Amino acid sequence: MTAHTPAVRFGTNRAGRPTDTRSGRSVRTRIDSLAGRTRNESGHAVRAQVSQILLRPGDETAPPAGRTFSFGPFRLLPTQRLLLEDEKPLRLGSRALDILIALVERPGELVSKRELIARVWPDTVVIEANLTVHVAALRRVLGDGHGGNRYLVNIPGRGYRFVAPVEVLEEPTPSALHTTAAERVHNLPAPVTRLIGRADIVSTLAARLSGQRFLTIVGPGGIGKTSVALAAAEELIANYEHGVWLIDLAPFGAPTLVPTALASALGLEIRSENLLSSLMATLRDKHMLIVLDNCEHVIEAAAALAAEILREAPGVQILATSREPLRAKGEVVHRLSSLECPPASARLGAAEAVKFPAVQLFVERVAAMMNDFELSDADAQVVAEICSKLDGNPLAIEFAAARVDALGVPGLAARLTDRFRLLTNGHRSTVSRHQTMSATLDWSYELLPEPERVVLRRVAVFAGDFAPETASVVAGDGIAASDVVDCVANLVAKSLVNADVFGSTVRYRLPETTRAYALEKLMETGEFEQVARRHTEYCGDVFERAEDRWGTRSPADWLADYGPLVDNVCRQPSGS
Ligand SMILES: Nc1ncnc2c1ncn2[C@@H]1O[C@H](COP(=O)(O)OP(=O)(O)OP(=O)(O)O)[C@@H](O)[C@H]1O
Ligand SMILES: [Mg+2]
Repeated sequence: MTAHTPAVRFGTNRAGRPTDTRSGRSVRTRIDSLAGRTRNESGHAVRAQVSQILLRPGDETAPPAGRTFSFGPFRLLPTQRLLLEDEKPLRLGSRALDILIALVERPGELVSKRELIARVWPDTVVIEANLTVHVAALRRVLGDGHGGNRYLVNIPGRGYRFVAPVEVLEEPTPSALHTTAAERVHNLPAPVTRLIGRADIVSTLAARLSGQRFLTIVGPGGIGKTSVALAAAEELIANYEHGVWLIDLAPFGAPTLVPTALASALGLEIRSENLLSSLMATLRDKHMLIVLDNCEHVIEAAAALAAEILREAPGVQILATSREPLRAKGEVVHRLSSLECPPASARLGAAEAVKFPAVQLFVERVAAMMNDFELSDADAQVVAEICSKLDGNPLAIEFAAARVDALGVPGLAARLTDRFRLLTNGHRSTVSRHQTMSATLDWSYELLPEPERVVLRRVAVFAGDFAPETASVVAGDGIAASDVVDCVANLVAKSLVNADVFGSTVRYRLPETTRAYALEKLMETGEFEQVARRHTEYCGDVFERAEDRWGTRSPADWLADYGPLVDNVCRQPSGS
């Protein structure tokens, strides 16, 4: 993905408002059009782009003021995406905030569900249940209905009306907010759902942060890195005098925007040619936790920023999430494992199965959609199998659970072979890379250098685990054996391949969903037949040796050596 900085120069118009000198349009219009175009998921990126434009050397133009809405004890600053209660920021998810903004802009008016959905999810088809969920979250935060407070009224079947009196004020310019970053405690979003099966890891990570300055949570797409990081950060809010700050780097395509993203999240207005050194000067005496979320696609810039912070700001700690380590000095990596699934051999009833977090997540997500859903003993085993076929990946499990109302549990299990058509969710209220499982994998795949893409596709022919030397033979057409091994090691770092180390030997394995994805890519490139043939020839050679050895080794040893290969051959895809 790319984000570019528009080439804009600013002057002032006759009314004294900042204006883009080329188009003659006001900055406000420019920001609104940028923000409107990309609000769905890149609002932060747009704001950072805008602040970068405004931070150009010699440009003394300040961003225009917006409107502030005041109601009850609350103050809503839409351009800062802040809701304050008695001047303290509240945690509100981004969708709920969008809904609130849409409603308070038209106090007393009926805003239809359709209008709200179109505004909050401009590029996505969503079912009304999403709106209901986020309105409920909003009500909770506002304390609507408690102590005689009334803010939102639902007009059944039609929409919502904001019924409290609203006062509209000019929003202070960012310079007036210059110091508010320190006063605000954090900008973590309110969790919409509860975190399952991660309590131990959350408290371990929170505890580790008391001794480590820089911790990165690493794992494949959808495994729950952001969710765990947010939960750990939340536990630590009280520990930091200057707060806990989340910087979501996912919307920032250009590495140069990374420091700007930090400045923007902290609400800092830095007018200097050297943004980074000004940022460091500001952070030098601060005691805060910075959560650098989703670093993988701007990894070098994120690593450079982290290194600079560690060097220049001794009281600042960093919790990062990334599909691969940042490999910066001082970094401690925590690899996040899958949600635990019942073992394949276990024959469990419903009560035992739901003790496993993967099954629990599945059941909770289905129950959220189908009120009367209860896991039956008959389905428990099938659900356990679905969860392990999805590698215990929470995002994949959520996608699968969303299909139960249409397919039923056995129907879902039967359709898993077609997982990429199945693991989509037209009504997910989230970023585009989380709208389908294949989009989640595209995000990683598209960041790979070409040789790693080639190797990933080719090693997808291995149905079970494989050794480095086997990978070199099967995937080595046109690539040196040592380069294949390096590529596989890099794919491990990037969370696309799993590695198990037994003493001095290492075995690799692709998670099922990654393998299915890579196989599709291999078929698309037309290379499948050729790679499968190399694999078959290789297996033929090994089996010849295996046959000779049958009489010379115990059956158990023989199976330990050759069993994985048998497994691999038996599960070889047909390619059609
Ligand atoms: N332990 C959990 N309990 C409940 N839901 C979870 C859990 N872990 C993850 N999820 C859900 O799974 C989805 C993906 O989680 P998350 O965004 O944290 O993954 P990620 O590893 O950060 O993905 P990416 O690499 O794409 O950034 C989210 O909808 C999240 O709410
Ligand atoms: Mg994430």
